[in-house]
Amino acid sequence: MKILMVNGSPRKGETRAALEEMGKVFTDAGADWEIVDLGAAPVNDCVACRKCTELKKCAIGGDIVNELIEKAKSADGFVFGTPVYYAHPTGRILSVLDRAFYAGKYAFMHKPGAAITSLRRAGSCASMDVMNKYFTISEMPIVSSSYWNDVFRPSEAESDAEGRQTVRNLARNMVWLVRCIEAGKEKGISVPANEYGTWSNFNK
Ligand SMILES: Cc1cc2nc3c(=O)[nH]c(=O)nc-3n(C[C@H](O)[C@H](O)[C@H](O)COP(=O)(O)O)c2cc1C
Repeated sequence: MKILMVNGSPRKGETRAALEEMGKVFTDAGADWEIVDLGAAPVNDCVACRKCTELKKCAIGGDIVNELIEKAKSADGFVFGTPVYYAHPTGRILSVLDRAFYAGKYAFMHKPGAAITSLRRAGSCASMDVMNKYFTISEMPIVSSSYWNDVFRPSEAESDAEGRQTVRNLARNMVWLVRCIEAGKEKGISVPANEYGTWSNFNK
């Protein structure tokens, strides 16, 4: 089992600390995990060139997006972490995920996803809502926890014990769901044969 986590902060700070807290649970469960740090380098937004349809990767090179798609292909579950900026996820993680899902949705489909936020005070629910939409439009089961998946200064051992407990439970639920999917495959339950190809374009 491999869990791929994305740190949507430009820093290796509080968001990463929360992802690392989850990593300890994954290690205890015998799962492989990796954190992809988006870092502070400039990231392009999607330019709607649609070249990804034929290229099967994002046409904008030179940043982390295509690497993320490649890593996603061999992952069994995903955790996307973001700091809250003005009550929304970072522009950085939205630009990366817009392009990664538009160009490489099949690497993510039918695999469980979870989103976490790190913040100083307010805006976590709105941010979670945005992050969860990558999962809901991609046929991905959403993993939840025992409370809201947000953390306040998780790097400080004495702060926000509940937030750290919440993300640990989130990690346990991720492991449980991935194992359920693996057990289902062994019993012959594979992903559904869904219908695709019908598009209703309401504007031209
Ligand atoms: C540009 C900017 C906007 C922010 N907006 C909010 C906000 O709306 N609500 C909030 O609670 N914290 C806000 N913060 C604080 C960060 O969300 C918080 O410090 C977070 O834990 C940083 O995570 P990191 O260490 O992983 O970068 C903001 C920080 C920055 C830099």
